[in-house]
Parts: sequence; C-alpha cells; structure tokens
Amino acid sequence: MLKVKSANSIPAKAENLCYIIDTAKSISEYKKLEKFQSYLKNKIKEKKNQIIRLIDGHQHIIAVINHRDSKITDSKNFEGLRKIGNQVGIKLNSEKASQAYFTCSKNVLNSDEYLSFLEGLMLGNYQFVKYKSEKNANTLDTAFLTGDVPKPADLKSLNNVVASNFIARDLINEPVIYMNTIQLAKEIAKFGKKSGFSVKILKKAEIIKLKMGGLLGVNRGSIDPPIFAIMEWKPAKVKNKKPIVLVGKGVVYDTGGYNIKTGTHMATMKCDMSGAAAVIGTMNAVSSNNLPLHVIGLVPATDNRINNNALVADDVIKMYDGTTVEILNTDAEGRLILGDALAYAKKYNPSLVIDLATLTGAAAAITGSFGTALVGTASDKEKNDLKKSGDITYERVGELPYWDEYGDLIKSSIADIKNIGGPTGGTMTAGKFLEHFTDYPWMHLDIAGPAFISKKDGYKSEGGTGVGVRLLYNFLKSKSGK
Ligand code: BES
Ligand code: ZN
Ligand code: ZN
Repeated sequence: MLKVKSANSIPAKAENLCYIIDTAKSISEYKKLEKFQSYLKNKIKEKKNQIIRLIDGHQHIIAVINHRDSKITDSKNFEGLRKIGNQVGIKLNSEKASQAYFTCSKNVLNSDEYLSFLEGLMLGNYQFVKYKSEKNANTLDTAFLTGDVPKPADLKSLNNVVASNFIARDLINEPVIYMNTIQLAKEIAKFGKKSGFSVKILKKAEIIKLKMGGLLGVNRGSIDPPIFAIMEWKPAKVKNKKPIVLVGKGVVYDTGGYNIKTGTHMATMKCDMSGAAAVIGTMNAVSSNNLPLHVIGLVPATDNRINNNALVADDVIKMYDGTTVEILNTDAEGRLILGDALAYAKKYNPSLVIDLATLTGAAAAITGSFGTALVGTASDKEKNDLKKSGDITYERVGELPYWDEYGDLIKSSIADIKNIGGPTGGTMTAGKFLEHFTDYPWMHLDIAGPAFISKKDGYKSEGGTGVGVRLLYNFLKSKSGK
C-alpha cells in the first residue's frame, strides 16, 4: 500500500517533486517554481486541472494545477481533489516512480483539502493482482510530505482508513473458491488481532442452538457451514453509553439458489458480502484509530447455492426471533440472514443499528454506482448526519420513500411474512422485511449499486469499491467528537 509520511526536507537527490497550485499568485508559494512562472501562469489561464512535468537539471518537477469554481461545495471540492490526487498517482506510476515529495502551502489547500488530495492518491493506487502471473504492479510506495504538512494524527488516521478500505476491497475481490465462510472467519480474526477489536465466531453448532433459521435456511444448499461473526470495539473511555451496532450482509456467493441467476446475472455475485466487508473494514478503521466509541459489528455469512437440501419456493422457515417466513424466491436470501442478525442485535440495547447490504437490484437501478439507498426508522438527525458524512466522503446516501403501505406488500397468507413483495418498491419492501426484526433506531443501506464496478473509475478500482468504510468511519468519528 502507498503510504504518506512527513519528511523534514527534500533530499538533494530526490527526483519527483510535486507542488500544488491553483491561482497565479499561488506559484510564488514555492521557490522551485520561480523560473517556470510565466509558463505556469499561462497554463492556469486554461482553467482546468493539469499535471505538468517540468525538468530542472536532474530533478523532475510536477506542478499540479487544481482548478475549481469559486462557489464550489465542500463535497465537490474534496472530490475534485481526490480525483486529481488519483491522476497524479497514475502519472507517477506510468513513469515507474516509487517515491515522490509533495509540497503544498496552506494558502493553497487547507488541511482537510490536502488530506482529500492525498486520499485520492492513495485510494487510486490500489490493485488486486494476487492471481496475475504478470503482476505489473504500481510502483509508487511512499509519498513524502514537506512544507505545510497535516497533523501527524490526521496522517495516521488517513493511512488507517485507506488500509481499511483496502481490506474491504480485497475481501470482495477474492472469489468464493478462496473466500468462503471459513476463510472469511479467519480474515476477521486476523484483522481483530492486528488492530485491536475482539472477535467471536459462532460456528454452525452454536447457530443451530440459537435457532437462527434464516441463516441456516440459506445455508441448506451449501457444503460450507455458516458463520456468525461478532466483533466488538470498546476502549476504556467511550462517548456513548449504549453501543452502535453495524450489521453486514455476508453472502459469500449468491447463485440465487433454486431461483437461479441466469445469463449475466450471476457473475460478480462474489460481491454479495460487500456489506460484511464494509463492517469489517469499519471495525478495523475505528479500532486502529482508537475512536472513543463502543461499536459492535455483526456478520452473518453463508453462500447461497443449490444442492438436494436447498430451500425452494413455498418453504416456510422460522427465524431466530420466532417469526415464520414464507419463501417465495430463494434469491431474496440476504434479508433472511440479516433478519436473524438484526434480531440478535436487540440484546445489546443499541442506540443505533446500521446495516449494509447488496440487497436488491432495485436499489442498484435507482442509485447506479453513484451512491447508496437509505431507508429506516432512525431519527432525521441521525439520517442527516449520515447524509452529511456521505457528502464529505462522496460515498453519498440518498433516502427513498418508506411509506407504511410497503409493509403490507410482504404479508403472507400462510406465514407471518413472506420474503418478497410485489413488482414495485423492491428496496422498500426489503427494508420493511428487515424492520420487522428491529426494535431500536435503525438505518438500512442498500449498497447493491456502488459496491462493485466493472471498470476502474478514478480512484475506485475495478471490482469491489469498499463503499461504506469511509462513510461509516466519518459518521462515527463525528459522533466520537474526535
Ligand atoms: N444479491 C442480490 C442483489 C444484487 C443485485 C446485488 C445486483 C448486487 C447487484 C440479492 O440477493 C437478490 O438477488 N435480490 C433480488 C430480490 C428479489 C428476488 C426480490 C433482486 O434484487 O432481484
Ligand atoms: Zn439473491
Ligand atoms: Zn444476495
């Protein structure tokens, strides 16, 4: 992973020196740019972002022009900086650079802006090359910062959050032939040990004892056992009396079951544990950055496959909380495992529960990859705080209508509820299904749209995006007052 570090000075033999400028006046912030002044002034007049190579003896200088509207929102300003950070990284990698020195005056970018630029540089450097014989990996590994450097705590936090986003991306990008439930449990234990949160993995026997009929039902078609992971971060001093619980859908592969996914619909379904990946990544970020908050992460995990014993339509199962569910589509499996996890969350008497899930194609049809769909029973204040974190991190959150009548659509004639609604409002009826298992303030994030992308989009790499980690970390950090 590309790391950012502060450096006291630029060594005489350093090769790649990057300076960030915006207005003509800003050029004079950097002595090294003096001799290129008139050239750069003309470039700035072009009113667009540019990355310009200048040669000064043996030294390669990169002038980064950050062009922006004077009336730009914080959200777009930060995102523009992430994008140009990514562009600079692409340029340095194309030249096989391993190190670069960045200098940015606080008169050009304030600390939050500079951190966004660095975040884009780092996030864009990710690659998943494990299975490539010709790795052809990015060369850039260290960005040294000189001049007006963000606070050490902010740099440490940035490194940790990016590493946590990469944890989520890696977990998603691994195919199920490797990342099955057993391997996922090992990974969770590994990250817990490394960054300090506690991990308890409930195995199949305990899940049977607890009568988690949703998780066990989906798992019937699988050769691998289900797991139920409980992660907890509770440092000595915490700001919240009651914990915040995060729940992530951990379907390590979704074939659809007997309602099998056909055509192109099955490919990419290794991403169906992106909610779990977001929760694991967030737990890692919260604990490695020592947030003074009590946070619990729950991940029910199984694959959704077919064998002789798999669920079929018309089956009725009994969930952990005793609710009976008529199965009318085996491809609506995420809500079954989440229902058990949400009911389990009640025992913590939480102040807030947030679940993340690649739950419905309907959500993806609404949001595309541009953001996440939200429904839930939490207060407007909680929802607005989350939306604000969405704008700042650009992991945006859009709220959908959530009228009572959507709840009528999951009434069953033979059981308490059924696992699909009608042809409309698929994301909301899925939400109503989940709500049935809650008795606390709750937000449901359907990340089916942004979780996985088919080609690199700026600093988001092809495949798993790790969406949710930066969003939730920002949200929790604000709550912690840090
Ligand atoms: N994992 C899928 C949802 C999904 C679709 C995620 C596309 C990412 C991209 C989920 O389990 C599913 O299959 N949902 C069904 C529900 C339907 C049967 C009510 C869907 O959305 O079609
Ligand atoms: Zn499904
Ligand atoms: Zn699914």
